[in-house]
Amino acid sequence: MSDQIRILIFASGNGSNAEALIRKAQASSFVQVAGVVTNNSQAQVIQRASDLKVASFIIDQKIFPDQKLQEQEMLRIAKTHQVDWIFLAGYMKLLSKNFIQSFLKNRIVNIHPSLLPQYPGTKSIERAYQDQVEFSGVTLHYVDEGMDTGKIIRQEKVPCRGLSMEEFSAKMHQQEHEMYTEFLEILDRGVST
Ligand code: GRF
Repeated sequence: MSDQIRILIFASGNGSNAEALIRKAQASSFVQVAGVVTNNSQAQVIQRASDLKVASFIIDQKIFPDQKLQEQEMLRIAKTHQVDWIFLAGYMKLLSKNFIQSFLKNRIVNIHPSLLPQYPGTKSIERAYQDQVEFSGVTLHYVDEGMDTGKIIRQEKVPCRGLSMEEFSAKMHQQEHEMYTEFLEILDRGVST
């Protein structure tokens, strides 16, 4: 019926990136957020999505006790809602190779708060700050089955020196939100995958 790009957001926690994506989509005519998938029933992202009238799909560990069943359900949601892209936004679980191969090729992306391959995994902002790096940055990348190892789409530096941890962290998150929402505009113009 329309040429809109339909995205699903996977998130496990706070959800500031998810909120930025939803707000950008709602202000545009070219992207629609089909929902937020979360593996954490206590995640703040559920409230953020609800406030913006976006559905959350909670993958209940009691109903889906292992990763295979959880991912089957996630794929079912993606198919039911005719999703074109999956955006990971603080989704704290690795996706299996089977899940990635079952979804559209090169259509799962992640935002990560470091200049990968530096500081993969958790606490990347804190670790860079503790190392007193001159700058760190943000990476947008395709998702493979590794930990933050997929092909890099874009990176931007964020200065660190002379900032407090809070200032640095705020700048990093601001850069994440900018880069992720700009990617929605890039998608609208057509990205080669
Ligand atoms: C962000 O730093 C993101 O890059 C990382 O997890 C964090 C999630 O933050 N993957 P939020 O939940 O989007 O606020």
